[in-house]
Amino acid sequence: MNLIALRAAILIAAVYGYFLIFAQFSFIELIRAGGISQTSEKIILATMAIGGISCGVFVAWRGVSSYWLKTALIVAAITSALAPTLCHMPYAVLIGFLAGAALGGATVSLATLLKDWCGLFWVGLGTGIGYGFCNLPWVFQSSPYQQAYIACGLTLIGWLVIPKPTESENLTEYTTDQTRNFWPMVLVFTALVWLDSAAFFIIQHVSEMKAGTWGTEHLWRNAALHFIAAILAGFWMKRENVRILPIAAWILLAVASLATTHSSTIAFTGWLYPIGVSIYSAALIAWPAWFSHAKNKKQIGWRAAALFGIAGWFGSANGIGMAQTLETVPNWFIVASGAIVISGILLTKNGSWRIAAVIGLTLIVFQLGNLNHKKVSESPIELGKQVYLSEGCINCHSQYIRPNSSDEIIWGKGPSMDEIKTQQPVLIGNRRQGPDLSNIGTRRSSTWLKQHFINPQAFAVGSSMPSYAHLFEDGRGDDLIAYLSNLGLERYASRLEQMAEWQPNETKAKNNGNELFSKHCASCHGTAGHGDGLMAAHFQKPPANLVVGPFIWSAAGDQLNDKLAKIIKFGIPGTEMPGHETLSDQDIASLRAHVLDLRKAPASN
Ligand code: HEC
Ligand code: HEC
Repeated sequence: MNLIALRAAILIAAVYGYFLIFAQFSFIELIRAGGISQTSEKIILATMAIGGISCGVFVAWRGVSSYWLKTALIVAAITSALAPTLCHMPYAVLIGFLAGAALGGATVSLATLLKDWCGLFWVGLGTGIGYGFCNLPWVFQSSPYQQAYIACGLTLIGWLVIPKPTESENLTEYTTDQTRNFWPMVLVFTALVWLDSAAFFIIQHVSEMKAGTWGTEHLWRNAALHFIAAILAGFWMKRENVRILPIAAWILLAVASLATTHSSTIAFTGWLYPIGVSIYSAALIAWPAWFSHAKNKKQIGWRAAALFGIAGWFGSANGIGMAQTLETVPNWFIVASGAIVISGILLTKNGSWRIAAVIGLTLIVFQLGNLNHKKVSESPIELGKQVYLSEGCINCHSQYIRPNSSDEIIWGKGPSMDEIKTQQPVLIGNRRQGPDLSNIGTRRSSTWLKQHFINPQAFAVGSSMPSYAHLFEDGRGDDLIAYLSNLGLERYASRLEQMAEWQPNETKAKNNGNELFSKHCASCHGTAGHGDGLMAAHFQKPPANLVVGPFIWSAAGDQLNDKLAKIIKFGIPGTEMPGHETLSDQDIASLRAHVLDLRKAPASN
């Protein structure tokens, strides 16, 4: 057993693991969980890329050594351990920068030093272990918090197994003379990474696609496919024409992306995508040292910095950026990336079979492009969650009810911390300009939600919430309502119990009942309580006439005071009558006095 080579393979797995589950995945979820806005998120990710590119260049400039690799892995471990605490802006930018720098430094050093430690088979093995590990069900399905700690553990293991510089031996060089040019290959890999990141991001954020490809039952298969494909790529690089790998990877990724557009073909995506990704990833990490035809280590370092800077950072940032606004990978993009891959390969050197490949592949693309382009359907609840995220509701609304605090009386008990941590993404939010929304589905009817989105000020005088009327021009508003209406339903029963137990503190009513009524009730019940307010027409069952009745929910009797207080505070569950949860007990007493007064004076109205 070649121990140094084995250590190198573990090291590759650790660095890929950090990249895959942390930098590309859980880090982004954690920023969102910390309540950081979308604009800030972009700034953080941009700083991360700057950190990655500049640190890669720095390492190449100072001369790659295992010292830099060690430093990078320690910094990587620290950043992933700290990431779960992210919620303030300058701090998040700093961690993002350091995480990028660690990744940039680690990848460039590793790719340059690898050839001293192992052969191409081990590169394939290491890539396979890295990807396979990240796709194991318990890793893949962990919460972002746990994934950050797993990444921390991985980088520490990587740090431990770095071979000592003196131990390194020079193994046979496998360089073939079939690839001449380096820069065209940078283009090729950029196109591949771009296509891969876009496809992956889209698949992971469209739940039906995810269910058909990365569902629980597929994870073991995906892990195995990644593992085997990377090892085969390692063998292939050792003996065959290496340029076939990027072409093969592109074909697999292109077909996988096209297959996402229809639910009958989505299963192919699950099979082809992992193979394509593993193949090019193994090639990517091996390329600088083995296939870039560098003269010496220094030059390998520079080529690694250029390749990972452009293909890695630029390619993946653009892929994810593009995917955030799309639901499928557009056909034109698949064709364009194919054209880049093929022309890049052609630029590298001679050969006519490649022309045939160009024609053949283009044909495949157009054939597949004709596939019925029906969009994979998605549950409105999932789509609504995406609207919630993309509209930045999290900047004003939390979904976190502090246990055993006054929050619980106002909004009901929230999900437990363990439940919250399994949410993907976590939507706790740390700003509370508006009410907490953990249980909004138990508190507001869908008609109320819609009218409130269209015109918040009609219900809450002086509300700072902007109108979202535009969301109803294209169905997004209805999805958002489906999502909100579902929030807290599993806690409905306990909420009803809590409402039954609640008693207002007996305080004297003040004289401001009328004023409070015009502010909170008149929009529906009308200023005089006849059930004819401005918003009344929007409700299927009109607001009750509080003057003449009929009083279905608040019939006269000895419980009347209690009933009215509860109706005012919590609304009437299952009807359009909303609660006024944040009013003080005294305001409730004043409103109740006013409502009772209205009933005494039917004759005068
Ligand atoms: C600028 C801050 C701000 C933004 C952005 C914002 N809201 Fe609000 N929201 C508020 C405030 C303040 C209130 C309380 C006053 C009111 O009811 O209008 C509120 C109230 C609500 C309510 C009623 C809650 C209750 O218990 O009565 C819902 C539901 C709601 N917002 C949902 C959303 C959603 C969904 C989004 C994103 C599409 C959003 N808000 C964006 C500030 C905001
Ligand atoms: C969004 C519109 C809306 C607002 C705002 C609203 N209500 Fe209502 N209210 C209704 C509707 C609709 C009903 C009828 C519910 C049903 O029977 O389906 C109702 C019913 C009631 C009832 C029960 C009457 C009965 O049948 O016994 C009372 C009491 C009441 N509201 C008081 C108030 C008070 C007080 C306020 C202000 C703090 C208020 N409502 C604010 C819409 C509203």
